[in-house]
Amino acid sequence: MKRVLHNVCALLIGCIILETVASQTLNEKLALLLNRDDLLCPEECLFTHQHHYFRDDMECCMCLAQPFWMLNTSNVGQISVSFLQDNTPFVTVNNGTYVEFYNVTLQYGNLSTIPKELCNINGLVYIDFSYNHISVIDAMTCIKSLDTFIFRGNRVRYLKNNVFSGMRYLRVVDLSYNELRNIEPGLFLHVDGSLSFFDVSNNFLENLDISNIIWEKQDYFCVSNFSFNVLRNMTNVMSWRCDIHADLGHGGYTDFTYNNFTYFVDIAEMGFYDITLLGKLYFYSFDFRFNRWMCDCRFFPLLNKSNIANQILGSAHHGLKCHLPPEYKDRFVSEFIKEQDLLICNISFADKCPPNCRCFYQPSRNRTVVTCRSSLISHKLPLVLPDYVNLVIDFSSNRISNLQVEFQRLLSEERTFLIRTKEISFASNIIKDIPDIVFVALNNATKINFMNNLITRIPKSLKTHRPCDVLFGTVNISCGCSDIWLQNWLPSSGHCFNNTRVMCHTSAGLISILDIDKYLIGCSDADSITMWVQICLGICLCCTIVSALIINQFRLEMYILLREYLFTFRQMSNSPPIAYDVYISCNEQDPNLRKWITYTLLSYFKDKRLSVFLPYRDCQPGTPREDEIRETMAKSRNMVIILSEVCDDISKPWLSLELRYAWLNYRNDWRRNIVIINYDLLETKDLSDKYIKAFFRLGKCIDFSNYTKDINPKVISLIRH
Ligand SMILES: *[C@@H]1O[C@H](CO)[C@@H](O)[C@H](O)[C@H]1NC(C)=O
Ligand SMILES: *[C@@H]1O[C@H](CO)[C@@H](O)[C@H](O)[C@H]1NC(C)=O
Ligand SMILES: *[C@@H]1O[C@H](CO)[C@@H](O)[C@H](O)[C@H]1NC(C)=O
Ligand SMILES: *[C@@H]1O[C@H](CO)[C@@H](O)[C@H](O)[C@H]1NC(C)=O
Ligand SMILES: *[C@@H]1O[C@H](CO)[C@@H](O)[C@H](O)[C@H]1NC(C)=O
Ligand SMILES: *[C@@H]1O[C@H](CO)[C@@H](O)[C@H](O)[C@H]1NC(C)=O
Ligand SMILES: *[C@@H]1O[C@H](CO)[C@@H](O)[C@H](O)[C@H]1NC(C)=O
Ligand SMILES: *[C@@H]1O[C@H](CO)[C@@H](O)[C@H](O)[C@H]1NC(C)=O
Ligand SMILES: *[C@@H]1O[C@H](CO)[C@@H](O)[C@H](O)[C@H]1NC(C)=O
Ligand SMILES: *[C@@H]1O[C@H](CO)[C@@H](O)[C@H](O)[C@H]1NC(C)=O
Ligand SMILES: *[C@@H]1O[C@H](CO)[C@@H](O)[C@H](O)[C@H]1NC(C)=O
Ligand SMILES: *[C@@H]1O[C@H](CO)[C@@H](O)[C@H](O)[C@H]1NC(C)=O
Repeated sequence: MKRVLHNVCALLIGCIILETVASQTLNEKLALLLNRDDLLCPEECLFTHQHHYFRDDMECCMCLAQPFWMLNTSNVGQISVSFLQDNTPFVTVNNGTYVEFYNVTLQYGNLSTIPKELCNINGLVYIDFSYNHISVIDAMTCIKSLDTFIFRGNRVRYLKNNVFSGMRYLRVVDLSYNELRNIEPGLFLHVDGSLSFFDVSNNFLENLDISNIIWEKQDYFCVSNFSFNVLRNMTNVMSWRCDIHADLGHGGYTDFTYNNFTYFVDIAEMGFYDITLLGKLYFYSFDFRFNRWMCDCRFFPLLNKSNIANQILGSAHHGLKCHLPPEYKDRFVSEFIKEQDLLICNISFADKCPPNCRCFYQPSRNRTVVTCRSSLISHKLPLVLPDYVNLVIDFSSNRISNLQVEFQRLLSEERTFLIRTKEISFASNIIKDIPDIVFVALNNATKINFMNNLITRIPKSLKTHRPCDVLFGTVNISCGCSDIWLQNWLPSSGHCFNNTRVMCHTSAGLISILDIDKYLIGCSDADSITMWVQICLGICLCCTIVSALIINQFRLEMYILLREYLFTFRQMSNSPPIAYDVYISCNEQDPNLRKWITYTLLSYFKDKRLSVFLPYRDCQPGTPREDEIRETMAKSRNMVIILSEVCDDISKPWLSLELRYAWLNYRNDWRRNIVIINYDLLETKDLSDKYIKAFFRLGKCIDFSNYTKDINPKVISLIRH
């Protein structure tokens, strides 16, 4: 029994020691974070994993830590404020016993300014002037030791952004129930200490700058309270931009409840030019409930990134609800993650929506819908439509008849909407004839609907569209020779088969044009004029083929000559820089050739101050040879290819590779040159490579036969400097 007790005791003591140590380190961590060492973290912060609303121990400390002097009020002396005859405030310090810290509290007084004498009191940590008549608080900046500033129910109207600057210990600011209308941007950029509670609820704020929402300078805060204002919009007057490498810290709880927010802000305008950057606000909590949210297309960017939306809107206490439009009232915004098509923005008459039509932008489908079904009173097409791309237009049931006139009118507009049209419907009108201009002008459309019209002719320009993109339904026409092309164009089966079915009037009744015999509708074969034309065409074709064959046979030769000729005109292009003057490709297994290169050619090049790359000498061991060949060739001006008989299998692949790259470089860059030295006196028929053959046939090749005499100068003369 005793033993058990002993063990329990030991365990308990162990725990206590452990806890003290741990909580010690928590205070130290806090001191380090805030650069002040008077704050004590409560022990419960050690157990945040049991705490449901703090994500880590520092978040807990930021909200629950208190300065040590607050825990024992006998540490804090009172300062009282009394008034002279003329209501001038008058400060008296009642230090009975000596204390380090002071508290000045005057609620429901007649103070209209902050008494200047307070500046002279060292150790003033606590001011509570709630419910006075003070309208300017700039004087408080001088109270450097202040920790808590309670200023509820005064008449402060404006907050300068440097009002808290230099106040290292400022932790709590309560400016609720004032008359604030504006906070200068950048307030939190000028806070130099450990501000943790900032309360401006119940004021008259209408706009808030992003720099007063994101605390860039401070890693943690507890609550920033903007609730019960009339906030409608966020601004970014300093053009703040979220840097991709920025660390926006752990933030805190930002309360925007009970404001007048209606339209979701443009995230890009707030400096988050890429929506995924919002992920940097992971540790912030924005409470946007109880506003007058309009669930329209402006929510789309956020809701299309549902993970971010869940983070910012989705946690348990963020059940954001729509207020508008009426049909979505009280729906949760997060429901739209699954129904993104419902997030639309209506486009008004002012934004070029035609009268009586309905227009809306639907970002989930990247389109703008214009519905003018039965609503074009004049039976004419509107001249302008909203300035959006990807228009989906419905002009059905409007008794439109003359498209020729309508399209000419539309095309006379400078920026006609026709080029922005993706889908268009003319269904159920009274169109008889479709002019060619229609399909030309609607070149970019992927769906054109002419169902239920009185079509009597199908224009040939329809060919420029795919059969699946057009819908005519069943059209009965009197077919002629000029309609025979439809037999090739119309699909004879498949899912678009029913889009367009052309029926011909014949003596035997209606027959699909696909089944009709062209002789039946009076198409004879070519007449004599067309025959002559065809003969002429045939001759031309023959000539073309013959010359094409010749060109094909000698195309490389022609290319080389042409290039030679053109080089004088064409100067440097922007190809990679030249690192070597000469790249030598040779059979490195041939000792005689190696000797000649080393002792004759190289030393000659050296005299001429040309830099040379010789693969067997300069290749870096270990680098893949192919890569090296490719890279070095790309950097070499001249490629000297020494032809020799290759018997071994080791060099063969490299040589052919070098040949290939040499030609590629030669072709791609006008500065390159190829010089061929026929070392083994090979003949054209011995050569397998067609490029080399071309050089050979043109005689652009140096024979080795005269090697004792002028081969070196000859090489130099061919090399380009
Ligand atoms: C300051 O004084 C007021 C009124 O006497 C008191 O309610 C408050 O707790 C004091 N604050 C501190 C930190 O001592
Ligand atoms: C409060 O502080 C005073 C003076 O520093 C000290 O004498 C007193 O014991 C403290 N009281 C408590 C409850 O810690
Ligand atoms: C009260 O303390 C202040 C220092 O904070 C000192 O200047 C002043 O003389 C003291 N007053 C009395 C009456 O002891
Ligand atoms: C404030 O001033 C008004 C008159 O100006 C006076 O009636 C009232 O008693 C004063 N209140 C205090 C707390 O001094
Ligand atoms: C913000 O202030 C309002 C009104 O003063 C209050 O109801 C709300 O609880 C505060 N929010 C937070 C997170 O403290
Ligand atoms: C909101 O602010 C932005 C940026 O300052 C501005 O472009 C937009 O027009 C404002 N919206 C409203 C409804 O005031
Ligand atoms: C804010 O919204 C309320 C209704 O919730 C409305 O009565 C008030 O006029 C609005 N204020 C502003 C400035 O828009
Ligand atoms: C919606 O998000 C998906 C994936 O994040 C993206 O591929 C798609 O382009 C977005 N849609 C639009 C219209 O922005
Ligand atoms: C758009 O207009 C329609 C009808 O005019 C209306 O029912 C709907 O609520 C509006 N939607 C939005 C988001 O404004
Ligand atoms: C929407 O369509 C336009 C034009 O087709 C295109 O340029 C744009 O990238 C598309 N936007 C999205 C988000 O897909
Ligand atoms: C099709 O759209 C492109 C831009 O997307 C535009 O440049 C072009 O003019 C359009 N074509 C026609 C025939 O309108
Ligand atoms: C076309 O429509 C007819 C009836 O109108 C139907 O029997 C046929 O299956 C349809 N063909 C295709 C390919 O959809």
